Amino acid sequence: MDISGKTAIVTGAASGIGLGIATALAEAGANVVMADIQKDAIEQAAHGLSGTNKRVMPVRVDVTQEQSIIDALAEAERNFGKLHIACNNAGVPMHGTKMVDVPPGDWAFVMGVNIWGIIHGIRHFVPAILKHGEEGHIVNTASVAGFQNRRGTNQGPYSMSKYAALSMSEALEHELEGTNIGVSVLCPGPIATNIARGARNRPDHLGGPQVRENDEAVLAERLATSGLDPKKVGERVVDAIRTKTFYAFVSAVPADVIRARHRRIEEALTSPWVTHY
Ligand SMILES: NC(=O)c1ccc[n+]([C@@H]2O[C@H](COP(=O)([O-])OP(=O)(O)OC[C@H]3O[C@@H](n4cnc5c(N)ncnc54)[C@H](O)[C@@H]3O)[C@@H](O)[C@H]2O)c1
Repeated sequence: MDISGKTAIVTGAASGIGLGIATALAEAGANVVMADIQKDAIEQAAHGLSGTNKRVMPVRVDVTQEQSIIDALAEAERNFGKLHIACNNAGVPMHGTKMVDVPPGDWAFVMGVNIWGIIHGIRHFVPAILKHGEEGHIVNTASVAGFQNRRGTNQGPYSMSKYAALSMSEALEHELEGTNIGVSVLCPGPIATNIARGARNRPDHLGGPQVRENDEAVLAERLATSGLDPKKVGERVVDAIRTKTFYAFVSAVPADVIRARHRRIEEALTSPWVTHY
């Protein structure tokens, strides 16, 4: 797909991967609606890009709220006309705590942003792209955590949310077969972003901002030392849209762990309890 002159919306665009995607799309000539829950940060980020003659627009959005997505879409269409590309990218972390100890509010937070954010995006951005008939593309941000649960990280709720992102993307690809709308599922390994501090952007209706000094420090340290520059992830996304790549891996991938999981599933399928489907 040719990106130049098209309109894109990117959620979670004030920081990290979302900012990297917004930057790369703007550099490829797209009009970019930069959407984020952090009002000041998204205005600043958009200002940074518009200063370089890019056609960008900031909008405050809370992806956990359907009406907020509807309002952001309306603003995008008012400003730039037809929407062609939607990147459902906003996400928050949840690691360092065993599932038996994760309180319901924290489950609701990770599901609200990482799963419902994508559901609202599918329900509203996809019809907006389909209605004009021109080419389009959806990018959902999952993770390598969507293919395996890594021992020792205690990130069951986060991983669950990324398996959901992967599954919704696969189902969406099936549903959009025969249309001119492509789907990619972005699967980054470690990227140097602010995700470790994600609970600080927790919306009030999901319990309000939270500081997790210890968990934040461990994850922040790992990403700062081993994480890829988010700008590279933006370039990966632009390439995935141009080449219609579905599984868009980027950065270090625990390929052996993923393969071992798949082998275990295949072995289980040889059980005498399994009948022809
Ligand atoms: N950093 C990594 O190593 C990594 C790896 C794999 C996947 N991911 C995924 O990449 C995506 C982006 O994360 P990041 O690493 O850039 O983190 P980040 O914290 O740097 O950026 C996330 C952005 O999402 C915004 N956001 C949070 N809640 C929101 C809400 N309710 N509505 C709208 N915006 C909201 C934040 O304000 C922030 O600007 C997430 O889905 C994350 O799970 C990150």
